[in-house]
Amino acid sequence: MPVEICPFKDTFGAEVQGLDLSRDISDADFKIWSDAFETHAVLVFHDQRFTIDQHIAFSRRFGDLEDFPDPKDQVNGIPCVIRVSNIDKYTGDIKPVEDIGHKSFTLGTSAWHTDSTFRRVPSKASLLYAVEVPPVGGDTLFANMAMAYEALSEDKKAQIEKLIAVHDFEVTRRRHSLPPRPKAVQEAVPPVRQPLVRPLEDGRKALVIGSHVDHIEGMDAEESQELLDWLTDWATQPRFVYRHEWEVGDLVMWDNRCTMHRAGSYDLAHHRRLLHRTTVAGDGPLI
Ligand code: OGA
Ligand code: MN
Repeated sequence: MPVEICPFKDTFGAEVQGLDLSRDISDADFKIWSDAFETHAVLVFHDQRFTIDQHIAFSRRFGDLEDFPDPKDQVNGIPCVIRVSNIDKYTGDIKPVEDIGHKSFTLGTSAWHTDSTFRRVPSKASLLYAVEVPPVGGDTLFANMAMAYEALSEDKKAQIEKLIAVHDFEVTRRRHSLPPRPKAVQEAVPPVRQPLVRPLEDGRKALVIGSHVDHIEGMDAEESQELLDWLTDWATQPRFVYRHEWEVGDLVMWDNRCTMHRAGSYDLAHHRRLLHRTTVAGDGPLI
């Protein structure tokens, strides 16, 4: 079956048909896949069954993978495959909703964000695979930050062009009055500066905002938050958003250079949800 890229009709993004991710992918098919990734920013594959090793192998074709240091977040003790889940890895039961680490992760992912903007080198792509999904809710929403930037007024573009934001993984905890992580853990990922607007390889530009942003440099806290809220509201208008309703066996790949995403709500306390994610590292720091 030939590989076919089927762009969504009403939003950005596309479905990839005719690729079985459990098989070796030829260079020609990989080229179709990577070209579609560059063009559509979010790609959806349905009905996939593959092993963890295969998940790692096809992700690596896009570049080096990021590692996650905490064993309880890892799939099978493999640092580059993270569990996105409300299920405790060790007991197999649904986690208590008040568990601090879980709460921080849930609050963090349910707010608009881009993966790894708190790293000095922000990531290029994430590949998320649905193992268990709740019967209702638990969608993932994606916002296209290149489309959102492009649609800004020239005045707004000029206003934000040179601004720098400080991103920090601890922000979610601070914002929700959760206790901070130990100092040594925090120091492993210190706050980083990122431009508010990044150039893309094809000459377009994209906004770099989201829940890992602490503040914009050179502004007082209120002014900074006001601008960030305005930009977030702007960028997440329905015309820039694709909403993915998960089925078991879906793999969704997204471009972290030009999208934000967030988890939609579901019944965390009663419905099981387990996804596996690999994250492709970016090519270098933005500044
Ligand atoms: C992620 C993430 C959202 C979701 O895996 O990076 O933000 O819907 N997930 O689980
Ligand atoms: Mn995420």
